[in-house]
Amino acid sequence: MRKIIFASNNQHKADEIRKVMGEGFDIITLKEAGIEIDIPEPHNTLEENAREKSMVIHKMTGLDCFSEDTGLEVDALFGAPGVRSARYAGDLASAEDNIRKLLMEMRGMTNRAARFRTVISLVLDGQEFLFEGSCEGAICEVASGTDGFGYDPVFVPEHHDKTFASLGLEVKSAISHRKIAVDKMVHFLKHIENNH
Ligand code: IMP
Repeated sequence: MRKIIFASNNQHKADEIRKVMGEGFDIITLKEAGIEIDIPEPHNTLEENAREKSMVIHKMTGLDCFSEDTGLEVDALFGAPGVRSARYAGDLASAEDNIRKLLMEMRGMTNRAARFRTVISLVLDGQEFLFEGSCEGAICEVASGTDGFGYDPVFVPEHHDKTFASLGLEVKSAISHRKIAVDKMVHFLKHIENNH
């Protein structure tokens, strides 16, 4: 079974990714690999931040690994919070702080269209491959639901009338930005395996 390090400390992301990848891949989180590191995200694009994380861990371990960076892009805010989604309300902001700021900024706005965009950087034998997934939706006016993480309580995916946090992990894992990006990576990994 192919062993790949997932270069992240976010257990929610690891759970979602394992669910989407299914059996056949041995995904090891940083914690499980005994690596304690908080990798910075200093760049202005999701691609560069994802690359930074996967390259740091690849250089540290010499192993195959992947990382992902995700941003919430709100049309009426000209793509914000985007690459700054994690620090939208400040460097030490919690998910609740970020949601509060987002709902304040959008107060009275009728165009609520938004999307989550995920970029995965996979490093295999030192070579990098990028995969992207996005999920269209809208920002609701009041947070609801207890599942998921981050902005899930305020994001209603297209063709649904509840937030990701209310729909739950089963539904999110079937339609999300992360699912789409991970599916592309799995397809690529299977192709490589079959041609070995
Ligand atoms: P990062 O990819 O860990 O830098 O996440 C950026 C920000 O977006 C953080 O505030 C996360 O909590 C949030 N975020 C990332 N992925 C998701 C998601 O799938 N749903 C909701 N919020 C997310």
